[in-house]
Amino acid sequence: MNDKLKEVKPSDLTDNLIRLIASDWMLVTAGDRNKFNTMTANWGGMGYLWNRNVVFVFIRPERYTYEFMERNEGFTLTFFDDRYRDALNLCGTMSGRDCDKVTEAGLTPFFTESGLPAFAEARIVLECRKLYASQLTREAFLESEPLKTHYSTKGGLHKIYIAEIIRCLAR
Ligand SMILES: Cc1cc2nc3c(=O)[nH]c(=O)nc-3n(C[C@H](O)[C@H](O)[C@H](O)COP(=O)(O)O)c2cc1C
Repeated sequence: MNDKLKEVKPSDLTDNLIRLIASDWMLVTAGDRNKFNTMTANWGGMGYLWNRNVVFVFIRPERYTYEFMERNEGFTLTFFDDRYRDALNLCGTMSGRDCDKVTEAGLTPFFTESGLPAFAEARIVLECRKLYASQLTREAFLESEPLKTHYSTKGGLHKIYIAEIIRCLAR
C-alpha cells in the first residue's frame, strides 16, 4: 500500500482482465455505512455495453451478499495483490451471516465518494451502479454441461448483475 489510490479511466487499466478476475479473484461488496457485506467472486467480466463501461457479476441468491446487492443501487469490485489471498479465501468460504469477515480478514473498509463500501488494501477499486439484473434460468442453457456441473446440487441459479463503472481507482 505504498501509493495512494488515484482515479484512472477504466480503459487505462493494463491488467489482463481474464486473469484479474479468474485467477486473482475480486471482492464484491454492497451495502451502506450502516451495514455492508463482502464476498469473493471469480465469475464475471468487464466490457462495453449500451455505450458504457460495465462489469457483470454472478451472485447466488443464498449468499448473504445477495441481500445487499438487491437492496442497494451500487456495489464495488476490489482487486488485491497476491499477499491478500488468505483474506480472499476467508471472504469466499465464510458467510457474513456467521462472522465479521472484514475484521477476520484484516481488511480496512472505507466509503467512496459515492458512499460505496470498499477496502483500503485494494490495488483497484471499481465503483459500480446497477443497470440490469436477471436470474439465470435452466431453460436458457444451450449446453447442459454447465447446468449439470454447477447446478445439480441444492442451491439456486445465479443472478447476473450488469453495472456501469462510475469510477475506477487504482494505484
Ligand atoms: C475463488 C472463489 C470464487 C467465488 N466466486 C463466486 C461467484 O462468482 N459467485 C458467487 O455467488 N459465489 C462465489 N463464491 C462463493 C462465495 O464467495 C461464498 O459463498 C461466500 O462465503 C459468500 O459469503 P456471504 O454469505 O457473506 O455473502 C466464490 C468463492 C471463492 C473462494
